[in-house]
Amino acid sequence: MDIDHGKYIEEKKSAWKIFDRIYKKYDLLNHLLSLGFDFHWRKKLSSLTGRKGDGMLLDLATGTGDVLFSLIKHSGGFNKAVGVDMSFNMLSHAVRKSVKRGKSGDVEFILGDANSIPVKTGSFDIATMAFGIRNISDPVIALRDIRRTLAKDGRALILEFSLPENRFLKSVHLFYLRYFLPVIGKLISGDVEAYRYLNKTIEVFPYGDKFIKLMEEAGFTECEKFPLTMGVVTIYRGIKTNG
Ligand SMILES: C[S@@+](CC[C@H](N)C(=O)[O-])C[C@H]1O[C@@H](n2cnc3c(N)ncnc32)[C@H](O)[C@@H]1O
Repeated sequence: MDIDHGKYIEEKKSAWKIFDRIYKKYDLLNHLLSLGFDFHWRKKLSSLTGRKGDGMLLDLATGTGDVLFSLIKHSGGFNKAVGVDMSFNMLSHAVRKSVKRGKSGDVEFILGDANSIPVKTGSFDIATMAFGIRNISDPVIALRDIRRTLAKDGRALILEFSLPENRFLKSVHLFYLRYFLPVIGKLISGDVEAYRYLNKTIEVFPYGDKFIKLMEEAGFTECEKFPLTMGVVTIYRGIKTNG
């Protein structure tokens, strides 16, 4: 896919504004467009934290908070769970959901940028980011800052779209991304730009070993990848083994 690189970077810098517009329909579209697989992806993310009922959790680009809520549910809770996002409307929705679910005492939401995370160095055991790193203009800068927030032996778990290795599955998936997703996205959210942006970023964002290299460049060690659902998404895990 041909892209105008300068325009693409500028779009990424203001990607949060798209979510600020579509926040009311975001959760519904997420479940619909992933055919409900998003629940399974978050559950798998939870199993890779290696924690059971303790530790400090930081979720970047938390949006409406579904990763936080899922990790709290499947990991048996954390000592503290913090969600950070640039979109005020997405965060407000997350706060409303936490009150509704009786979780408002367990979580804290902060308006902030994943490139310069407003939390203390070395204060978290797990840092997660689901479908956020693709929206960052320089992923390595964000990954370095994510690493900074972690205590020694802390884990970063990044869940992001990828493309299937199998050529046939890849072309079917690209067809879905280019022609089906923007139409459904527009019908439900009324915002065609949002879902065109989504398919454009998925197609050009580095995945698999290329993304592992970015994690290593940011200082993570023991980096691993876990492709899910025929490779349409991948979870990447990296450890902060030294200060
Ligand atoms: C696709 S949503 C993902 C939300 C959530 N993690 C999930 O899995 O449903 C991407 C989120 O990234 C946020 N975002 C975009 N750029 C950001 C940045 N620089 N720092 C923090 N959040 C950002 C958007 O506001 C949006 O809520």
